[in-house]
Amino acid sequence: MMNAADNELLTRIGPGTPMGAMLREYWVPACRSAKLEADGAPERVRLFGENFVAFRATDGRVGFMQEACPHRCASLALARNEDNGLRCVFHGWKFSVEGKCVDAPTEPRQQRERFAESVPVRSHPTHEAGGLVWVYMGAQATPPRFPDYEFTALPEDHVQPYRGIIRTNWLQGLEALLDSTHVTFLHSANLMSERGRNYFKDESDYMLGDGAPAFEFDERPYGFREGAIREEGEERSYARVREVSLPFFSFIPSAPKGPRIVCCSIPIDDVTTAQWYIAYDTDEPLRPDLFGAFGMWSGDPDHFNADMGDAANLWHQDRQAMKDGHWSGITGRGNAYEDFAVQESMGAIVDRSQEYLGTCDRVIYRARQLLLEAVNRHRDTGVLSFAGDDIDYAGIRAVSFAYPREADWREIDAFDMQEAAE
Ligand code: FES
Ligand SMILES: [Fe+2]
Repeated sequence: MMNAADNELLTRIGPGTPMGAMLREYWVPACRSAKLEADGAPERVRLFGENFVAFRATDGRVGFMQEACPHRCASLALARNEDNGLRCVFHGWKFSVEGKCVDAPTEPRQQRERFAESVPVRSHPTHEAGGLVWVYMGAQATPPRFPDYEFTALPEDHVQPYRGIIRTNWLQGLEALLDSTHVTFLHSANLMSERGRNYFKDESDYMLGDGAPAFEFDERPYGFREGAIREEGEERSYARVREVSLPFFSFIPSAPKGPRIVCCSIPIDDVTTAQWYIAYDTDEPLRPDLFGAFGMWSGDPDHFNADMGDAANLWHQDRQAMKDGHWSGITGRGNAYEDFAVQESMGAIVDRSQEYLGTCDRVIYRARQLLLEAVNRHRDTGVLSFAGDDIDYAGIRAVSFAYPREADWREIDAFDMQEAAE
């Protein structure tokens, strides 16, 4: 059980909060790269309770700055995007990709340049990789090293990012991504369906067969690996090894070859979260419109769960379908909609002092402890956890596999397994 003060500490991410200050120190996805066209419409992005616009300048670079014009706060989502900058439609002030005011045509000519230089503009560094525009919103003058996860180095057609938007706090989003036990229950209808069988292949049987796997941990400098171990016959075990790169990313175990999924839970504000599902394949281009092919989305990659419903209509739960054998009754779109429905059903910020945790919640407990230690450490000493120059982000890969029982899953290399499967 968690006390109310710790719950506040972990969940509040607005300006001036300890968790907000810590989380801003990591590079985060802001929007899809494909959303921004050179000289095209600026994209509104809300992150950590603040409003921004992202835009692609004439020369292709991406700027990310406050949505409110530094002059009198007109929205720069309305701005003209031309000649390598955003020009506010209200009085014509112009801002560059670097976040400088480069023209203030309402000022007398002789002091215009000096005046423009004095305008304070809030903007943040960006980086494009893995089909995403990433942004660093932290306090350091030099951004930290970019986490070069393997999907961030792939060609464009090997990666497809989809953004879900949920009406809950970021930690609820993260905890759902960490919780492997629920798969056997919440997603059982999908696991049994043709879609699930196609997607998860023989994993479905393991997950359906045993709702109480043994969880084992392997601490890593970026977070931890979690093995969900189930028995397979007399002599073999089956491990689903999740990789958790705190504070945002959970790599979902998949077969050694084929499409993989990594998810992350990025705060939009205290009660709204972008839950990114990033599909990628290290060997081959993904089939176009992967989520569409599995019927898993609304058709909008920037809000793939737009049609999921809400608390008022119980997320379109279908009682008849439940009578007919569907576990959750949330039938339309696959696992993510089921996840999002239960996350939202807890309320915007779940009161963790009201929980009663069991053995299956070890990973949740563990992650909370690590985050609490990290936020206290960052607040008290300024030192950032889960970061560092020696972390091998590109070497993070989550796989599931069967192995001889006497072996240790921690010693089995995910990258070797892929070669063995070729
Ligand atoms: S409000 Fe933007 S230029 Fe005046
Ligand atoms: Fe789930």
